[in-house]
Amino acid sequence: MRKVGTIIDNLRSGEKAPDRHENPYLSEALQLSEYLLTQSELQNIFPNVFQEMQNPFILEVGCYMGKNVIELAEQNNKMNFLGIDITYKRVVKSARKLKRFNISNGKIAICDARYLINELLPEQFLDGICVFFPDPWPKDRHEKNRLLNQQFIQAVYQKIKPNGFFWFKSDHQVYFTQTNDLLLNSGFVADDLDNNQPRAQPRNIIGGPYETAFQKLFINKGIPFYQRVYLKK
Ligand SMILES: C[S@@+](CC[C@H](N)C(=O)[O-])C[C@H]1O[C@@H](n2cnc3c(N)ncnc32)[C@H](O)[C@@H]1O
Repeated sequence: MRKVGTIIDNLRSGEKAPDRHENPYLSEALQLSEYLLTQSELQNIFPNVFQEMQNPFILEVGCYMGKNVIELAEQNNKMNFLGIDITYKRVVKSARKLKRFNISNGKIAICDARYLINELLPEQFLDGICVFFPDPWPKDRHEKNRLLNQQFIQAVYQKIKPNGFFWFKSDHQVYFTQTNDLLLNSGFVADDLDNNQPRAQPRNIIGGPYETAFQKLFINKGIPFYQRVYLKK
């Protein structure tokens, strides 16, 4: 599990960044504290992440440059969206846009998904989780690095409320199939049994059908991808 965001913690407490870490994203992070949390800040304020905590809480794992959190939060203003990622550049770019559009029901944290799921979230907390195009680690010897393994999915299952969703998309057919099997074996039920084809979006998400940043790239290049929505029953 990676401890991420410590340089922002240090800067926010008044320390100087080590020379090799001087970069514009770190100094910008100081101006974005309303929208960008570090792992330890998230831990300190948890569970009061949003102004309206009575609204559904949706987590996006691997939020990349923030497009999905921003657009989903704008279209679903009675839901809260927390996007997490592990690189300074991506979380700063994401939080910058949330600030620009003055979005109060979207936030970003620099946080490892394994830490959030295994250590921070209480049981039956999330109303939904989005995992869109997680890094596929396509080489055999790197497969062990994939986020979606049995342990992670079983832990996610515990952290989702009954009827909460797991919204999954991948361009990697083998990773998709293996994850599909793990989800179904962990107690999730595909939310398309009445539909005869995979549902592209959870029923309670307004707007769309929603296309993520990576999804648009794959569509433009003619690369196939796979998607399905699962529910905790
Ligand atoms: C392919 S990109 C996601 C694309 C984006 N979700 C979309 O659909 O447009 C995968 C992202 O997951 C992030 N990531 C990888 N491991 C992670 C982890 N353990 N916790 C949180 N984010 C992670 C990467 O930094 C990267 O930004």
